[in-house]
Amino acid sequence: MTADRHQIIVCTTCREKGSDLRPGKDILAKLEVDLKNQPDLEARYDIAGIECMAGCARSCTVAFRAEGKATYLFGDMTPEEDIDDLIAFARQYSELPDGWCISRDRPGKLRRTALARIPALNVPEAGAKAKAGAGAGAGAGADKP
Ligand code: FES
Repeated sequence: MTADRHQIIVCTTCREKGSDLRPGKDILAKLEVDLKNQPDLEARYDIAGIECMAGCARSCTVAFRAEGKATYLFGDMTPEEDIDDLIAFARQYSELPDGWCISRDRPGKLRRTALARIPALNVPEAGAKAKAGAGAGAGAGADKP
């Protein structure tokens, strides 16, 4: 069973490297337009801006989260290059029961720009497909986050 509601959170205070531009609002606007063009996906997502997710050195940061799913924080996102990949990941993430996705299965630049992949709070009991703790998890130790 997958979560009903998912959320994309975009940092609105990240500064573009070497300038004072803040690309988060452009990313937000483009994601909103693309989601509107895919009503089935839009129905699954809320999208929001937030001031800083502590990934400032990897501007711009974008997070995905949902109840009962792994949470992701991606860095180095730009409104010019990464909207299609973010939308593709939004679809993929919404269809994964636990949100767990190894790097090679993610679209485009999202394969190498994850700053964090945090297991869901409601991890299964020990011995099951646990994703918390050292050495556990589908890709732990064998995959980049
Ligand atoms: S300002 Fe964007 S993560 Fe800190």
